[in-house]
Amino acid sequence: MPLHLSGINKTFDGSPALKDIHLTLSKGRFTTLLGPSGCGKTTLLRIIAGLETPDEGDIHIGDVCLFSKKRRINRPVHQRNFGMVFQDFALWPHLTILENVAFGLKAQGDTTNWRNRSMEAIELVQLQGMEKRYPHQLSGGQQQRVALARAIVVRPQLVLFDEPMSALDALLREEMRVELMRLVRQIGFTAVYVTHDQTEAMSMSDEIVVMKSGHILQKDVPEVIYRKPTHAFTARFIGKTNWLEADKRLVRPEHVRWMPSTENDLAYSGVVQAVSYIGERYEVTVQLEDGHVWMAYHPTRLAIGDQVKLYISQDQIHQL
Ligand SMILES: Nc1ncnc2c1ncn2[C@@H]1O[C@H](COP(=O)(O)OP(=O)(O)O)[C@@H](O)[C@H]1O
Ligand SMILES: [Mg+2]
Repeated sequence: MPLHLSGINKTFDGSPALKDIHLTLSKGRFTTLLGPSGCGKTTLLRIIAGLETPDEGDIHIGDVCLFSKKRRINRPVHQRNFGMVFQDFALWPHLTILENVAFGLKAQGDTTNWRNRSMEAIELVQLQGMEKRYPHQLSGGQQQRVALARAIVVRPQLVLFDEPMSALDALLREEMRVELMRLVRQIGFTAVYVTHDQTEAMSMSDEIVVMKSGHILQKDVPEVIYRKPTHAFTARFIGKTNWLEADKRLVRPEHVRWMPSTENDLAYSGVVQAVSYIGERYEVTVQLEDGHVWMAYHPTRLAIGDQVKLYISQDQIHQL
């Protein structure tokens, strides 16, 4: 069932957090809400969950109305039956892993199958053997798996994630990312995932919703968000930008060459301002004669102060 939000507004103490949000999320897809801190991601997720009440608007899942200001409908959290995974895991410290995972099933009144279903979820997140432990006896990554098992055990039609990786270190984050994508493929749930991390958003999502100051700027597949951003903000927020004209025409660093590929290429002269080694290549900052500062990649180390020429082909220029 697709999830439809229309005309969602939310104000906290007179300052708007969400402004006229219209959004449709397709079934079975992994959608990410991406934007800087304070742009309204968590508020929107909490509104979908039923943890926060919008000032205006409607929310439907398929034909079922979850919220309507006009019709005075507001289904409470437990009736929406969505799975939720938060940044701080929010596990119950006095309950074992099995009890933590089983909690939602027992709350639904499952007195016969809860153990089997919980064990199945624990196996899905590869924590079999840990079910008798308490949360403090697990690592951060394992605790996050428990939170995941707890969210999927009730087989919700929608799973909501609020920056679930931000408490994990970089290596573990990447591992969890792969794990989460495996689970999505295996169980096939619909996910709404909140993050301010562009890499995370780009690597996991079927679709990215870019947010800024309570607005949605763009919603599309990651490739289009990166290659054809509709706003200068999005271009800057996701990836690196070289501007031909400020906020109007840009080219990405990987499309800047050190030799012309055709005679139609545009050429720019400049001076190397900074060089940083990023593993398999060098990221070079070049101060152009026309005043712009560009970024490009070079296979060997250049010296600061080197005079260089940069080339771009016209079809790599993106016009906003
Ligand atoms: N419960 C609240 N009371 C007052 N202001 C809030 C509350 N929740 C969020 N806000 C404000 O709403 C805006 C959006 O917050 P939030 O949705 O948490 O952003 P994000 O998750 O993108 O960082 C921020 O300005 C924040 O301070
Ligand atoms: Mg947040």
